[in-house]
Amino acid sequence: MTSTKPDVMISEAQIAQRVDELAAEISHDYADKGSLVLVGVLKGSFIFLADLSRRLTIPRTIEFIAVSSYGSGSRHSGAVRLVMDVRGNIEGRHVLIVEDIVDTGHTLKYLVGMMKSHRPASVRSCALLHKADRAEVEVDLDYIGFSIPDEWVVGYGLDYAERDRTLPYIGIVHPDDRK
Ligand code: PRP
Repeated sequence: MTSTKPDVMISEAQIAQRVDELAAEISHDYADKGSLVLVGVLKGSFIFLADLSRRLTIPRTIEFIAVSSYGSGSRHSGAVRLVMDVRGNIEGRHVLIVEDIVDTGHTLKYLVGMMKSHRPASVRSCALLHKADRAEVEVDLDYIGFSIPDEWVVGYGLDYAERDRTLPYIGIVHPDDRK
């Protein structure tokens, strides 16, 4: 646990409202496409994926993928390694990658390439949070919950050294609390 409770950047109510909006938009966009495969990126996306998937009004299935990135602290080396691939067959399916946050963009760029290698019908991506100021590579992010400034954020699936993942809101970790 952090020594002090992280300050609120995005409240529980704001998240719930935005997730409702995203689910409505995605349900509308895929209404005539049949079933959608939501691919959650572990670990950070698990809460967002759970809430988003339950609010969709279209047929959907769930897959998970796990990656690890090389780098130290907040620096991303750009190299991403696959730790766990999807279990189901996604060939010919419409895929939506679900991320908690897109920061430098290296992870999402890698994941889009990975998904395409499975020959799906389409690949799109959705992130609850986007730090546009930190982008190092260009990625097509189709659905964005919130664009946020370059702060270290926790909660709603996101962690700082595995802490505060289950905080119900998006909070800011101040430099003094980064121990
Ligand atoms: C976070 C997040 C993305 C990635 C984004 O994962 O869930 O997968 O970083 O960063 P990028 O845009 O700079 O590539 P993290 O490595 O913190 O792992 P976790 O989800 O298991 O906490």
